Amino acid sequence: MPRERSAAFAPGRVNLIGEHTDYNEGLALPFAIAEGITVRAKARASSGGEERVEAYASDLGEQDEFSLRDPSREGGWRAFVRGSVAVLGSAGFPLCAACLEFAGDVPQGAGLSSSAALEVALSLTLLDLGAEPGTGTPLQRVERTELARLCSRVERDWVGARTGLLDQLASLYGTGDAALCIDFKSLRVEAVPLRLGAWKLVVLDSGERHSHASSGYNERREECARACELLGVRSLRDADAAAARRLPEPLRRRVEHVIGENRRVLEAVDALRADDLPAIGELLGASHESLRENYEISTPAVEATVSRLLDAGAAGARLVGGGFGGSVLALFAPGIEPPAGAREVRPSPGARMLEE
Ligand code: GLA
Repeated sequence: MPRERSAAFAPGRVNLIGEHTDYNEGLALPFAIAEGITVRAKARASSGGEERVEAYASDLGEQDEFSLRDPSREGGWRAFVRGSVAVLGSAGFPLCAACLEFAGDVPQGAGLSSSAALEVALSLTLLDLGAEPGTGTPLQRVERTELARLCSRVERDWVGARTGLLDQLASLYGTGDAALCIDFKSLRVEAVPLRLGAWKLVVLDSGERHSHASSGYNERREECARACELLGVRSLRDADAAAARRLPEPLRRRVEHVIGENRRVLEAVDALRADDLPAIGELLGASHESLRENYEISTPAVEATVSRLLDAGAAGARLVGGGFGGSVLALFAPGIEPPAGAREVRPSPGARMLEE
């Protein structure tokens, strides 16, 4: 008999540094935040022999219902739910008819990865509900990196955004008081203590919503793939800086961003180990400049937000996530007040099952 009920929480994330490196087999340094999404699931009796899934997005007051074995395509949040069911089902995991309800406090489209939080929490509850009792939780049974891959398949095949594994790995491996240095070539995840003391990391929403499926995100990925072809390398992690300088524009600048950003992640890890927070501030500024000039994913609204933070005295500020809108991350030294509307963020524990 499968279980009757299940619930899981998965957090959003902030990426301290290492933007647009994940799908280039590069390096990043994200951390899970306290805000996230909770999914509660209840096994459902099949009606007339057909197993169906019912889903309710409490924050939106919207509902969906579809066949467990054959979900058809829909847009918006429904794509995440239908996609999670379809991807887990086709990967061979036992699933059962269910009523799902979810709610959260990660703002949508704000660059804090509400999508990964939703995919991870949905997958954990669906896997838990479909499993035989006594077989352990999905987090005990399925490797986290494997779960991250399944979730990113939902985004690629059902939502239409060819994102990397940054958000899902951060949500799944998050841990209090540390950022995660992720090497996307080896998929090794290493916790690097983030001792902020009286310093503050804050995010300020630019107010501009973005969607990876419709922004220039996929186009940037294609540009990186094209640069790899021209350079004759498997990924930009292996790109030679001198050869990259001979690429046509804008590919030269795209590759320069990736090479520079990987280096900045390593410098940030060293700075954190040395408790050198002023150096982190400078690295945030350098990362943003490269995202704006080389990767060209900033917008006037994002620039205005960066300026507000710097004018308030931030030691450094940069856009986080896919770009083309979303939030800006900034670091403030002790005693300097962030502007109104900025929310403090701290490394927090990763995805977990909740007692039902
Ligand atoms: C989004 C994607 C991630 C990553 C970042 C940019 O958040 O979901 O996979 O590519 O953009 O670093």
